[in-house]
Amino acid sequence: MGVAVSAESKPEFIPNGPIPQHVGIIMDGNGRWAQARGLPRTMGHRAGTKNIRRILEESVRLGIKVLTVYAFSTENWGRPRAEVNHLMRLISQSIRDELDELDANGVQIRHSGRLEGISPRLREQIEYALERTRNNDTIILNVAFNYGGRAEIVDAIKEIIRKGYKPEDVTEELVSQHLYTAGLPDPDLIIRTGGEYRLSNFLTWQAAYAEYYATPTYWPDFDEAELRAAIAEFQHRERRFGLVKS
Ligand code: IPE
Ligand code: IPE
Ligand code: MG
Repeated sequence: MGVAVSAESKPEFIPNGPIPQHVGIIMDGNGRWAQARGLPRTMGHRAGTKNIRRILEESVRLGIKVLTVYAFSTENWGRPRAEVNHLMRLISQSIRDELDELDANGVQIRHSGRLEGISPRLREQIEYALERTRNNDTIILNVAFNYGGRAEIVDAIKEIIRKGYKPEDVTEELVSQHLYTAGLPDPDLIIRTGGEYRLSNFLTWQAAYAEYYATPTYWPDFDEAELRAAIAEFQHRERRFGLVKS
């Protein structure tokens, strides 16, 4: 904010500076992390899943209110069957192993994505986790799982039509209220690990004015210092929302 930053120097984290209310993370690079170590891709997913906890805890310390993590996209179903099955098992295991502690720490779990297509057992586990933590308010951990930004908009349109809204009733606000993220603020900052510069169908509607940050670091290696670096960068951006500088 008003601080000049040269091209080479990394912006400094400002302890009392602005903190994004809602951060979205595209947790990419698990497979390459494992391959670089001569391990199977599945080991990368295991390490990546473990890393969510470290980043969630740092998010609480920083005062972030909503953390959305992209765990599985609607396109990821197209991966080899064994990898998909492994990812499903990992989600199920994490809920089983982490739910008590997440709940004890006041984490509210939300799900963004389609429940259709997920096995009945996993679906039940997810629904139980959401119900059990619904009144927690330390932080919202929103898990984008079986999530696609376009699928989400299609689902919203269907629901709006089903409810019988007239064309003149359809507003941006109404669409927002019918997304999986209804009630959550739009993301202020989207972080992508693993070096790619694309959204890959993540928060297509909600990210309209999000600041975007990409790092080559693979997700399992993305640590507290990396999160602070991303936020430092955010703190030095000027968000104009289409207006002119005041
Ligand atoms: C992200 O890591 C996790 C999921 C998409 C489930 P990848 O599995 O995409 O890892 P890379 O991009 O192949 O390294
Ligand atoms: C995005 O990563 C999806 C998740 C992180 C869950 P992908 O690896 O699936 O995205 P692409 O294929 O590089 O676009
Ligand atoms: Mg990837």
